[in-house]
This record gives sequence, C-alpha cells and structure tokens, in this order.
Amino acid sequence: MEKELFLGLPRYLKDVTEQVALGGGEPTLYPELVEQFAQQCSDYDLICNLTTNGYFIKDWQDEKVERFSENLTMTSVSLDKSKYKQWRDRNEFLDTCKKLQKHTLVGCNLLTDQSFFHNGNLVNVVDLLFREGFDRVFSLYPKNVQGPDILDKKHYVQFLTMKYPNFYVDDITFKILDEGKYENWSKPCHYGKDIVSINEKGQVSGCSFSDDYRLTLKEPRDIIKVNDVHFEGRYSCPYLRR
Ligand SMILES: C[S@@+](CC[C@H](N)C(=O)[O-])C[C@H]1O[C@@H](n2cnc3c(N)ncnc32)[C@H](O)[C@@H]1O
Ligand code: SF4
Repeated sequence: MEKELFLGLPRYLKDVTEQVALGGGEPTLYPELVEQFAQQCSDYDLICNLTTNGYFIKDWQDEKVERFSENLTMTSVSLDKSKYKQWRDRNEFLDTCKKLQKHTLVGCNLLTDQSFFHNGNLVNVVDLLFREGFDRVFSLYPKNVQGPDILDKKHYVQFLTMKYPNFYVDDITFKILDEGKYENWSKPCHYGKDIVSINEKGQVSGCSFSDDYRLTLKEPRDIIKVNDVHFEGRYSCPYLRR
C-alpha cells in the first residue's frame, strides 16, 4: 500500500473500529513500516494485532523484537503443515515465539487439515501451545482448498473451548459445528458485519477472501465511508471447498 495511505489510516479507523489486524503478505518484511503504523494506532487508541510466519524474527536481536512489538497488542505466529516444515525443529519455533513473549502477547494461528482431527492431534497441539505460554490459539478452517471433515469432531473443539478461555475458532468452523452442516446456515457469518478487509490497493471488502470490493480508498479519510456500505449477509461460505 502507498505509505501515505497506510500510515494515515489509523486516524480515521478509530471512527470505524477498535481493532486493526495486520496480515499480509508478510509484515516482518517491512518492520519499520509496522512500527510506524502501530505507533499511529496507539496514538489513536486502536488495538493493533499482527500475523506473521515468524521466520525473520528467529534471527532478530532482542532490541529489534522489542521495537517491533512495542505498540502491538498481540503477535500471532502461524503454524500448519507447510509452515512447520520451514522450522528446523519444534524448539526453533517455540524459541522464536519466546522472544516475542518478552515484549507482547503471543498467539498461534493453526490452519487445520485432516491430520489435526486424527487421534486427538488438535488437542495435543493446543495443549502444548498453552503449556508453552501462548496467550491465544486460533484455529482456522482452510478456505479455497479442500478442508477437513469436522462434523463428527465437534467434541474436540468443545473440549478445548471449555478448557481454554483463549482458544478460538474462526467463523466458518463455528458455523459448521454450531449448525451441524457445511452449507446453508440459518444465521449469517461475520462477513462485512463485524469485520472488513482492506487490501494493498486500498480496496475494501467484507472479508479478506472476498474480491467483491465495495469501496476504494483514495485517501485515508475515505475509510469512514465504510459505515454507509451495506454488505449482504452470507449464509454459507463461498470459499468453502469440499
Ligand atoms: C495469509 S497469512 C498472512 C500473514 C503471514 N504471512 C503468515 O504467514 O502468517 C494470514 C493467515 O492466513 C492463514 N491462511 C493461509 N492460507 C489460508 C487458507 N487457504 N484458508 C484460511 N486461512 C489461511 C495463515 O495460516 C495465516 O494464519
Ligand atoms: S464469507 Fe468470509 S467471513 Fe464468512 S465464513 Fe467465509 S471466509 Fe469467513
């Protein structure tokens, strides 16, 4: 995103929301930009969270991690089968997260696949993460690719939800399990309701998977117009592939 548009946003985002999540792309490719953005968020009383693959942070000195995290409320490090392969071993991943834990709340985003729902694997992984001091674990259902069968695995998610107040699932997992079916839910998801997504071109949609752009930001203050955009409720996810 154009630097001026990006860094100008927090001032106006405060009239739209209380929280901003920086995704990507990979935000650790531009640490100075993240620091400046998070500073702006702090100046305007916005919570700023971030998601990263964590690979660069592994090699950062403590001062750099501290500077990077200073105004971030939570940094979530992603973990799934393909990401796990990039780490030398489990300890390299955990040690990197520990570096962050000195300076910010740390979450883990788990992109689930079928293997998580075999033999209690999801429970084992989440147990390990909370034992290692993670503040939040967020379980995501894969969009746009084949997802796992989870209808008969609801008890895993219920167990973890009861055991850990800071274990969360995304909208789509919740809808599937709550309504007992993969499609045609009776209640809408959060598309455009509690969340909107802004991409690198300043295009605004109802969730980060949608390219149905309802607004394009030319300058930061344009984001306020999102309050007047009507998003249709979604009763089944178009990004679900089964
Ligand atoms: C796209 S990444 C971008 C931020 C950063 N580069 C990272 O790797 O965490 C943001 C989150 O989306 C998740 N993600 C990636 N592919 C996905 C998919 N097909 N469906 C749902 N979530 C996905 C990742 O696991 C990650 O937690
Ligand atoms: S439409 Fe978007 S917000 Fe709704 S369930 Fe699908 S990915 Fe999530």
